[in-house]
Amino acid sequence: MRYRIIEFAELASTNRHACAQLRELADGDVIQAAIQTAGHGRLQRRWLSHVPGNLCLSLVLKPRHAAPAALPLVNLSQLLALGVCRVLEAQGVCATIKWPNDVLVGGRKIAGLLAETVFQGAGELVGMVLGLGVNLNLTAKMLDTIAQPATSLAVETGNPVEVAAFRDAVLRDFFTACDEFLGSGFSMIRQAYLARCPFLGSQVEIRRAMAEPLRGVAQDILPDGALELVTADGTVHRVDLGEMFAG
Ligand code: BTN
Repeated sequence: MRYRIIEFAELASTNRHACAQLRELADGDVIQAAIQTAGHGRLQRRWLSHVPGNLCLSLVLKPRHAAPAALPLVNLSQLLALGVCRVLEAQGVCATIKWPNDVLVGGRKIAGLLAETVFQGAGELVGMVLGLGVNLNLTAKMLDTIAQPATSLAVETGNPVEVAAFRDAVLRDFFTACDEFLGSGFSMIRQAYLARCPFLGSQVEIRRAMAEPLRGVAQDILPDGALELVTADGTVHRVDLGEMFAG
């Protein structure tokens, strides 16, 4: 699949820009900003990106392969997270995934994804915006200002990182696989994804919007990318959405 990078020196948020311009943007457009003044993540968190040297971009996807309900839209962020892992590994860094799509190194977050899907009328897909932030050149001092444990590629390797080279490697990985993935779904990457899930078998807590947290053992990642969790009373739960924390 072809893609086109549209670069900005500064945006409030690449996701916000891509969502606002979604009707004018094309499938495969990539909005990148050198800095974001209001970068944000899931659960209303801010994403530290007001300093240059990091990867802040949003992919615009308008798949027309099938009706939206038949497309693995929710899994696209898992494909992108896996791609980020592969690019980090190519640089000698061991990366893992915290379901569904956080990328960690040594248990510290290095990349986060924010997917937003826009529909109109009777379920017509306008498009999807898949935001990706990767800490590439944040210093240890800057990382200390983040509320949760975080790291950057430069801290991990001891070397400065070239943002464009990292971006191109991630986008190549994602867009090379994207068409086939839209046809076959999560099962295409399940084994590679599972190989990077060290939390399986551990006690976790899943926080969900509008629902009580769920605590239990993370047992498996199902063939469609959902999490299988077993609570203390032995009940097996399927979890489609949520944020995972050590339980
Ligand atoms: C998270 O882990 O909660 C998701 C973080 C997503 C951050 C990226 S940076 C590029 C894009 N623009 C945003 O405002 N957020 C996403």
